[in-house]
Amino acid sequence: MDQDQGATSPAADRHGRRVHHEVSRCAATTCNGERATLPVAFSGGRMQRIGFIGIGLMGQHMARRLGEAGHPLTVWNRTAAKATALLSAGAAWADSPKSLAQASDVVITMVTDSGASEQVSCGPDGVLAGGRAGLVLIDMSSIAPETSRGIAERAQAKAIAMLDAPVTGAPRVAAEGKLGIMVGGARETFEACRPIFQVLGAKIVYAGGHGMGSTLKLVNNLILGVSIHAAAEALVLAVKAGLDPHSVVEITSVGGARTGAMETRGPRMIERDFSPHFSVNNMYKDLSNVAKLADECGVSLPVAGAAREILRAARSQGKGDLDSCAVLTVLEAMANTIVQRKAGC
Ligand SMILES: NC(=O)c1ccc[n+]([C@@H]2O[C@H](COP(=O)([O-])OP(=O)(O)OC[C@H]3O[C@@H](n4cnc5c(N)ncnc54)[C@H](OP(=O)(O)O)[C@@H]3O)[C@@H](O)[C@H]2O)c1
Repeated sequence: MDQDQGATSPAADRHGRRVHHEVSRCAATTCNGERATLPVAFSGGRMQRIGFIGIGLMGQHMARRLGEAGHPLTVWNRTAAKATALLSAGAAWADSPKSLAQASDVVITMVTDSGASEQVSCGPDGVLAGGRAGLVLIDMSSIAPETSRGIAERAQAKAIAMLDAPVTGAPRVAAEGKLGIMVGGARETFEACRPIFQVLGAKIVYAGGHGMGSTLKLVNNLILGVSIHAAAEALVLAVKAGLDPHSVVEITSVGGARTGAMETRGPRMIERDFSPHFSVNNMYKDLSNVAKLADECGVSLPVAGAAREILRAARSQGKGDLDSCAVLTVLEAMANTIVQRKAGC
């Protein structure tokens, strides 16, 4: 196995020592019916080389954890400057997704949307252009299920195994390695990659074949998008009705109205902290993919549809890069009120 292909300093570990990779393999079937080989995460105590693409709010923490777990790490990000901290911690830099794939046993992508995933995986300089048979590609971005299936098909044609494995949890949760991970693809590939998922997540759910991880993620974010919207509506109503908004956060921490959305976003909405943890743009993208899936399945989603419309308004007001809890400001304008602490509370 050529460890020096493609990346600038890939064959040394985080302390500058040379690392030998003896990767054991398990069998998988390609679309041609051939038996390809898949590397497992550990072999004889040696760690697989991981290539990580997408050093954003989430990816920076996930990549760091994999490096800290001992995986020789190569990274690529469209905006190179965002990789500085990881490179200082010992990761290698690749000049393109293609060269990153040449230097890796497993490639993880964590980018914005379907278009970005297609580009880094299937573009002329993408992962599939550089990956050899036996590589595993794990796409952890939240994208449309049909895009996941399309990438998996093109990967299979090169005997590259693919998993769609989107996540749930904020950047803080990613930093702690406590994400929820939903996986679609061949079960044996999933099992081979489980040790990697265990570095990143606390709840790992196998959802079925290609695209089913992405499908489960859409269902999950339908609930999240609607919950954030409901929390914002409740705070606007509470303030207009003369309540202190903290009383809403407090009382909903117990009982049937309890939601993660109010627990995590409620205090930030009251403090008017709209710095991005999970952006309006990303939530709008997810609820748009939800709407498309519902259309394909012939399912009406009136509540998710309303939440998406408010996100659309937030984007039109130039708030796309703010946190998704900025939907509060759209609802405030509609009600002609501002959510703030009540004097004396
Ligand atoms: N934030 C959360 O709480 C959260 C939770 C669960 C799931 N997610 C999902 O995780 C994924 C990443 O989210 P994030 O919050 O980390 O977003 P982010 O901070 O905006 O990062 C997005 C990443 O994608 C890259 N990218 C975007 N378009 C690209 C393209 N055309 N080609 C190559 N790279 C491209 C960006 O590169 P640049 O640095 O060059 O812009 C950046 O590295 C999204 O699918 C999101 O829905 C996020």
